[in-house]
Amino acid sequence: MNQANFSMEKIFTAKMVDPMEFSIAEAEKSQFSLIADAEADIFSNPWSEKDVADTADRGTVLAAVNGRNLLGYAIGISAAGEGEILRLGVLSEYRGIGLGRALLTFLTSSLYKSGAGVLFLEVRESNTPARALYLSCGFTECGRRKKYYSSPVEDAVIMSKLLKNPNT
Ligand SMILES: CC(C)(COP(=O)(O)OP(=O)(O)OC[C@H]1O[C@@H](n2cnc3c(N)ncnc32)[C@H](O)[C@@H]1OP(=O)(O)O)[C@@H](O)C(=O)NCCC(=O)NCCS
Repeated sequence: MNQANFSMEKIFTAKMVDPMEFSIAEAEKSQFSLIADAEADIFSNPWSEKDVADTADRGTVLAAVNGRNLLGYAIGISAAGEGEILRLGVLSEYRGIGLGRALLTFLTSSLYKSGAGVLFLEVRESNTPARALYLSCGFTECGRRKKYYSSPVEDAVIMSKLLKNPNT
């Protein structure tokens, strides 16, 4: 199983507020319900536990944990040389300390190893934190889908990233 341990003190010294240790690994089946609970807290169109399980069968589901506590998660798929970031979420109380970046970096690396040469994702136009994260991780805007989202209705910004090396 892929696993990475991150030390907040070593990696995120600039933003260190309350140092804590966390690990990121492929989610266990027993964690799918926790991810679905987090989805319900975070998104207006949440994935169910079944959605998570179905995608785990053909893609990658990552969980960031501290002990038994789920802090965040990332879900993606790779097929025919293309990868897609499907979901990325950090529980609100753990935002702003580097978890989103760590999850996205780990998922990018996993999808690259699965054969993806390019990654795509969609993000709400108004989602400033996520768009800033993706830009800072090397994604660029490559298109728009008008009124793609509901609750509330909003355009999707499509972003992509060419993968030359994992973690770049
Ligand atoms: C988007 C999200 C995953 C970011 O997770 P996070 O753990 O808070 O992000 P990080 O602490 O790793 O921050 C990484 C970068 O994201 C950007 N960012 C994070 N929060 C931000 C904010 N409130 N405003 C602007 N930029 C922000 C910054 O570029 C930041 O880099 P910096 O710290 O060097 O400035 C998190 O806010 C979240 O779960 N949001 C709700 C779900 C969501 O929108 N998912 C994406 C759907 S496409």
